[in-house]
Amino acid sequence: MNQPQRFITAPAVAFDLAAIQADFPILREPVRGGRLAYLDNGATTQKPEVVLQSLDGYYRHQNANVHRAVHDLAERATTAYEGARDRIAAFFKATREEIVFTRGTTEAINLVAYSFLEPRLQPGDEILLTGMEHHSNIVPWQLVAARRGAKVIAAPVTDSGEVDLAAWRALLSPRTKMVAIVQVSNTLGTINPVAEMIAEAHARGIPVLVDGAQAIAHLAVDVTTLDADFYACSAHKAYGPTGFGVLYAKREHLEAMTPWQGGGDMIRTVSFEGSTWNDVPYKFEAGTPDISGAIGFATALEFITRLGIDAIAAHEHRLLEEGTRRLGGIEGLRIIGTAPHKGAIISFVMDCAHPQDIGTILDQDGVAVRTGHHCTMPLMQRFNVPATVRASMAVYNDSTDLEQLERSLYKVRRLFA
Ligand code: ALA
Repeated sequence: MNQPQRFITAPAVAFDLAAIQADFPILREPVRGGRLAYLDNGATTQKPEVVLQSLDGYYRHQNANVHRAVHDLAERATTAYEGARDRIAAFFKATREEIVFTRGTTEAINLVAYSFLEPRLQPGDEILLTGMEHHSNIVPWQLVAARRGAKVIAAPVTDSGEVDLAAWRALLSPRTKMVAIVQVSNTLGTINPVAEMIAEAHARGIPVLVDGAQAIAHLAVDVTTLDADFYACSAHKAYGPTGFGVLYAKREHLEAMTPWQGGGDMIRTVSFEGSTWNDVPYKFEAGTPDISGAIGFATALEFITRLGIDAIAAHEHRLLEEGTRRLGGIEGLRIIGTAPHKGAIISFVMDCAHPQDIGTILDQDGVAVRTGHHCTMPLMQRFNVPATVRASMAVYNDSTDLEQLERSLYKVRRLFA
């Protein structure tokens, strides 16, 4: 059995919230003429100075294409870009060959679906998901399943918003060719016991992909200890830039997989008779990459490491408890997702107003939240709601943000109830 996931411990270092907030210039941006309470971190996080400077610095002092030319700038760009791969690999405690750069979690999952799984699928095979997956961890599997006569199935979610593990276990069978699990639900906040689930799937010889999009900025991730075959994540949900992400994959899988997208940089030789492939991970990185994205992401991950993931998790857990307490006191408000093991995400509905209207009132008061189905339509059906309002926290949030949210929700009641 693998190590259990680490969650809340006492902060390892002094946690200077004011200094952290000062590091995010956008938090001082007035919205609707007032103070911003940014509680839409599940959609994307804001960026600290150090990340903004790394992007700016790259374009001012290093910009050139990578792996292609011998001039000074090309060398600087290549060194910074490949240096970023080492820094990212260090964060995940992986080797550089196991880190494939992608456009984000979605592209990483599509890569695994088409390049790893599709050639292995036979008619009647199954891909086992959970009922709380994001569309990006459902639709790619459906697309390849349809091409092969295979089937996507999903384990049910309990009333509190946890995967029904007994049901999930019962769905594992000789037909299961792939298991895919979200580590932290973007809608419910539930933290799934992925280490345990990976061990159980592996005991039956089934490979596992973990969607870590909502995890890496909020809890300690060590893909080697986790023993995931594939781990997908996005930079922009972890204080990095948009349009960049990473697929961690065990090297033996990458070596065995055929390329998914063809183009420059992923080849060793090309002729009209046929082509041969570059080494891993480059075999999966066709075309000019997002160079500044890699540099920005590496910088963002080091920002997280410097603050300390345990300190971040402890702070966010306090926010979750406070937010749950504040919202729990509002008449007619129901929280969707009450698992005991949760990240700092609070989804809710109110009996007096539609989530879209709630979001509009909150916006007028400077409170940024996401409203809608959160790219988890099956979860909306499961909980029999059309949509929810979702407040999702990050390291720079504080009690004032939660108070602003609470005050605005009382206004919603006054206006609609
Ligand atoms: N997946 C992102 C969210 O949960 C966009 O909002």
